[in-house]
Amino acid sequence: MYEKLDRETIVRILRSHGESEKLLFAKSQEICAREVGNRVYFRGLVEFSNICSKDCFYCGIRKSNKNAARYTLSDVEILDACRFAYENRLGSVVLQSGEISNEAFAVRVGKLTEAIKKMSNGELGITLSCGEQSADTYKRWFDSGAHRYLLRIETSKETLYKKMHPDDGLHGFAQRIEALATLKKAGYQVGTGVMIGLPFQTCENLADDILFFKSLDIDMCGMGPYVEHGDTPLMQYSHLLSEKSERLLLTLRMIAALRIVMPDINIAASTALQSIDPQGREKALEAGANVIMPNLTPLSHKRKYCLYEGKPQLDDDMAAVTGSLTERIEAMGFEIGYGEWGDSKHFEKER
Ligand code: 5AD
Repeated sequence: MYEKLDRETIVRILRSHGESEKLLFAKSQEICAREVGNRVYFRGLVEFSNICSKDCFYCGIRKSNKNAARYTLSDVEILDACRFAYENRLGSVVLQSGEISNEAFAVRVGKLTEAIKKMSNGELGITLSCGEQSADTYKRWFDSGAHRYLLRIETSKETLYKKMHPDDGLHGFAQRIEALATLKKAGYQVGTGVMIGLPFQTCENLADDILFFKSLDIDMCGMGPYVEHGDTPLMQYSHLLSEKSERLLLTLRMIAALRIVMPDINIAASTALQSIDPQGREKALEAGANVIMPNLTPLSHKRKYCLYEGKPQLDDDMAAVTGSLTERIEAMGFEIGYGEWGDSKHFEKER
């Protein structure tokens, strides 16, 4: 069944239950161990600002959400979190924020990237996730030392993308695909991904998402369940959603299917999984993910980076978050890639 993964087979995989689902996870786990190994890589996640110029209908930090208390971390706070990642040998950090497109922001992120490199003697890997930016900005950040970039396509189905985003000239589907191409040209390892279980989304759409990732030849992928947020327009369709437990399972099946279709890429066990199930991310590792992102955002602001409801571990500091995750991952029999960047094998092969 797994030999020829065409659209129809992927759809069938996404609908698997019981015994066939178990077989699927066994297969994806076997491929994962063979192609990328038994090692899980950490990325210390620093959510450094929730100020956003975009208005995505699903997202809690969308520009129009007046209930979101806005913050930006200071340079010292960001560097402290990155120092924790360095000293605890997490290997890499992800700097994530809402989308801001002005010169001051571009300069700041470039300088922060340089400062993190300097603080860690060039050792910490830096991934950025700051939305759509100009080719020039992407290039400057790359030259400052960032080497991976995450920009989700959210859904590869254009009509669904249009339902999820306002038609205001700022949320173009083609523009987003163009941004992914620009990132690749700038030299980044590029990660994209989708939300799973969106209203109006079908298994056929999700199978096409996987084929889209393949056609883009991506290096990394982060996919998570869609989780409602009360202060967003998409909430009006909450009656159309499947149970959260089903969205979780569908996400695990997507991870397994993607591992089979793209065996040597990095796949993240996304944070949103943990908001549905405390063990959601660990389950993703068992389905074929190999990257996990302990949240290092300072406690004073963590609560405010609220994309969806039920964000976990809001009272756990960096040490608690990393410590509990380490224990659980090691108990599952995985190794942790301490002090390693854990670049995508797919990207390394291309080079
Ligand atoms: N549920 C799940 N994921 C969400 N994101 C934004 N809002 C939600 C939501 N309500 C995801 C998007 C974005 C990433 C940073 O967070 O996919 O790219």
